[in-house]
Amino acid sequence: MNKQVKGGLKPGDARSVGPSVQQIIDRDGDNPPEWFHSEEWTYQGDENLTVDRYISQDYHNLEMERMWSRVWQMACREEEIPEVGDNVVYDIGSWSFIVVRSDDNTIKAFKNACLHRGTQLRAEDGSVTQFRCPFHGWTWNLDGSLKEIPCKWDFPHVDEAEYSLPEVKVATWGGFVFINMDKDAMPLEEWLDVLPQHFSTFPLERRYMTANVRRIMPCNWKVAQEAFIESYHVVEAHAQAMPVTGDANTQYDLYGDRISRLYTQPGVTSPHLPALSEQEMANMMMQSPRLKERGGALPLKPGETARSRYVQALRKDLEDRFGADLSALSTTEILDNIEYFLFPNFFPWFNFSLPLVYRFRPNGNDPNSSIMDVMLLHPVPDEGPRPDPAPLKTLRPDQSFTEAPELDQISAIFEQDVSNMPRVQKGMHMLEKGVTLGNYQESRLRHMHRLLDRYVATPPGKKLRK
Ligand code: FES
Ligand SMILES: [Fe+2]
Repeated sequence: MNKQVKGGLKPGDARSVGPSVQQIIDRDGDNPPEWFHSEEWTYQGDENLTVDRYISQDYHNLEMERMWSRVWQMACREEEIPEVGDNVVYDIGSWSFIVVRSDDNTIKAFKNACLHRGTQLRAEDGSVTQFRCPFHGWTWNLDGSLKEIPCKWDFPHVDEAEYSLPEVKVATWGGFVFINMDKDAMPLEEWLDVLPQHFSTFPLERRYMTANVRRIMPCNWKVAQEAFIESYHVVEAHAQAMPVTGDANTQYDLYGDRISRLYTQPGVTSPHLPALSEQEMANMMMQSPRLKERGGALPLKPGETARSRYVQALRKDLEDRFGADLSALSTTEILDNIEYFLFPNFFPWFNFSLPLVYRFRPNGNDPNSSIMDVMLLHPVPDEGPRPDPAPLKTLRPDQSFTEAPELDQISAIFEQDVSNMPRVQKGMHMLEKGVTLGNYQESRLRHMHRLLDRYVATPPGKKLRK
């Protein structure tokens, strides 16, 4: 079939009408780092995705065996385990790990199972001086070495040196602790690719959790995360944002195999609507008294844009609230909604006013259920002690994100997102053609599935197929 379309565009080359993200950055007129002032995108194909990947137990089992067993995955924040002995239980599928600060300078991750008869050594996060099994009392030191076997005389066949707790790889970046079950895994620094560079003006390790909210979602983990991977859904799911959100002119970037980016700008009217004037947009964006007091007073002067006035007020507001000096940052760095994705399930936002992080994973081995974690990471004050992170709040499935006030104004928007998820999961069972995706706006989703497909096609012990 000839896939040339009218106008001679190749598949994937078509874009929305309206200004592009890069044109808006040009118009802002300041000088962001080149990784913001550039695009990185290649066509990912247009075949439909099979639905088995979202609904079948067999596919889930392959994901566990072939993908989750050999990828770096974010297990917790370092700030959750500040003292020696502090530990977090990280579960993925039927596997469970203890992530522990084993001494002042070391974080380790152990398989969460007593080497006697398998009892989980830790059932929940907490702080311990040793790992003592609640069944018969076998005990390990924080470094994983065996400390005690009650009635040792009955176990002459147990060589203590071989009964340390099995470890998996651990590495940190940006205040996050990552683990990897694959002993041959590439170093985390290599896995992270462009992320450390792109976050160099937004150091995540200098932030702390002001929200840490978990909810069980009635859908596959990929259905849940794909509700947050594009701005195509704004027109229907978040229509209230359209007057001041450049939804269809969002930029999507794909970096290598594992990383992608969504770049949506405020102060740009959705191409679905007649364009608002700069003054009309400014009126909508500057409603809060805090912003008005901090340079957001109206009307605009000749030559000003809604973005230029908004960034002036927002910069001042953020500086007042967090004691930070943001004078060196460009408009796009302060204003724009820049969401990164790191395969397979980690979404750190580059966003000063709404510093979100998402993580999605299977809930046990049920392909129709997943765990969604949402964090907010605000700056650590320059002076005084580091604030304690918000405790984990786990919402029951019947609870709404609006019952987590620490999520602030974002919870109502999340409710718009999650309300579709059970319907997607149910409807997928009826899809005969598979899942149909847009060439550009849904390219991050396809990019993720291309790598997932490669993992799922590669048996254990084999090198990942190209
Ligand atoms: S199962 Fe742990 S001590 Fe027996
Ligand atoms: Fe959304």
